[in-house]
Order: sequence, then C-alpha cells, then structure tokens
Amino acid sequence: MARTALVTGGSRGIGAAISTALKAAGYSVAATYAGNDEAAAKFTEETGIKTYKWNVADYDESKAGISQVEADLGPIDVVVANAGITRDAPFHKMSPEQWKEVIDTNLTGVFNTVHPIWPGMRERKFGRVIVISSVNGQKGQFAQVNYAATKAGDLGIVKSLAQEGARAGITANAICPGYIGTDMVMAVPEKVRESIIAQIPAGRLGQPEEIARCVVFLASDDSDFINGSTISANGAQFFS
Ligand code: CAA
Repeated sequence: MARTALVTGGSRGIGAAISTALKAAGYSVAATYAGNDEAAAKFTEETGIKTYKWNVADYDESKAGISQVEADLGPIDVVVANAGITRDAPFHKMSPEQWKEVIDTNLTGVFNTVHPIWPGMRERKFGRVIVISSVNGQKGQFAQVNYAATKAGDLGIVKSLAQEGARAGITANAICPGYIGTDMVMAVPEKVRESIIAQIPAGRLGQPEEIARCVVFLASDDSDFINGSTISANGAQFFS
C-alpha cells in the first residue's frame, strides 16, 4: 500500500513542489494551506492532490486536521513541516506582533504538526519527519531576528526528535534551503534580492524542485541511517 505523506504549506512555493514530487514517487499526499483558497483549488485541479485548510499555529486545529487526513488517506508515514512565513524588519523596528506571528507559525507550528502524528509513528515503528528550515537559520539574516530564530530552532527540534525516534524506526531531518525562486523571495525588494544573488556562488536562485528531490530521498527507505542531519541546499552561499 502507498505510504501517506502530509506537507504543510503544501499548495504553493517549495511546499507545492514537495507535494508534487512525493505524489510522483508513489505517496498518497495531503497538502495543507492557511488562507489562499484560490491557489489551493488551482493546485488540486492541476495535480489531483487533496488540500486541507488549517492554521499550523493552532494546536487544536492541527490535531483535528490531521485526524481528518488520516481518516481520508490512512496513517501518516511522512510529515513535511514546511509551512512558514516572514515578517521581516530590522530589529529596532520589529514589533512584538511580528516576532510572535513568526514564532507561532514557523516554530510552534512544527510542534503542532509533528506532535499529533508522533504517537502513531512510534506504534507503527516507522516514520519520517522532515522539517524545512533555512540558510538563514544557519547564518542569521539582516531583518530576520524572528525568522532566523525559528529556523535555528527547527534544527534543535530535529536533532532531539532524531534521538527520541531512532529506536522506534523514526528519522527526523532538516533541509536548509538557500534563496529559492518563490513568492517569499520575490517579495524581497529587487535591489536587495540582486545583492543577495550576487553572494551566491552558483549565481542564481534555487528551484523548488531542487528541495523537493532532497525530501523524496529523506522520505525513502534509502535514508534509513540518516537521522538528525541537516542538508544544506544553497548554491554554496553558506557552509555550516
Ligand atoms: N545587509 C545590510 N544592510 C541592509 C540589508 C542587508 N541584508 N538589507 C537592508 N539593509 C540596509 C538598507 O540598505 C538600509 O540602509 P540605509 O538606511 O543606510 O539606506 C537599511 O538597512 C534599511 O533600513 P530601512 O529603514 O529602509 O528598512 P525597512 O524598515 O524599510 O526594511 C527590509 C527593509 C525589510 C530590511 C528590506 O530591505 C528587506 O526585506 N530585506 C531583505 C531581508 C531578507 O533577506 N529576507 C529574506 C526573505 S526570503 C526568506 O526568508 C526565505 C529563506 O529562507 C532564505
């Protein structure tokens, strides 16, 4: 039987490429989204992948949504915690709301997504937890104290989960994408974006599919002994 995969933020950007690649690799895929109904409907129409709407920042919503996915598709074997937002501002201008929104979505959202799925993975003695972190969690970023804190936190989550899950057949790994050609990066002012691209030895933005291919590998049985690791995919912008 096909394994089931859940991808949060899975209808747009890097998440959409991950959902599509997992489906192509034979998984039953559920993709979540937070608010853009139009994009989600278009995504389902184009790919046949079912989308579910909930706010990953809310534990009860996440738990109920996950129960619904498992009722529809079966127990979740692979969870990709990908949903994330930016609220960029230099620190002296960053509001407590900008801090909290990003922490709630990008960091607490990972807890809310993985926690309800974890007991079932332990019982079934198989699981793949893949968290999409960021190069900016590794190196920090001007105007991203909030975002960098969450993406660095993701690395602590997977390193801890890896130790807890290892004997239960569960692996937990992170991918740190560099700057990828998505709406999130295109929202950076053009001049700033150009100066960032100039710092990438590859001389270009990454493509969402380049991250999706890492996810498919980490989800597979071939990655069994890779646990608690961080895969950097950033065109040589940064080494950690
Ligand atoms: N490094 C150093 N200085 C920078 C800078 C940087 N990366 N970015 C901006 N600055 C400077 C500006 O040149 C400006 O300097 P001056 O005042 O001397 O001209 C100052 O910082 C900005 O001051 P402003 O008051 O104009 O700032 P603002 O309140 O308008 O904020 C900004 C602008 C939000 C910082 C905007 O420049 C921006 O969005 N920067 C990009 C931040 C970024 O890289 N975000 C990553 C998004 S993609 C992502 O997050 C995905 C991923 O995982 C990789």
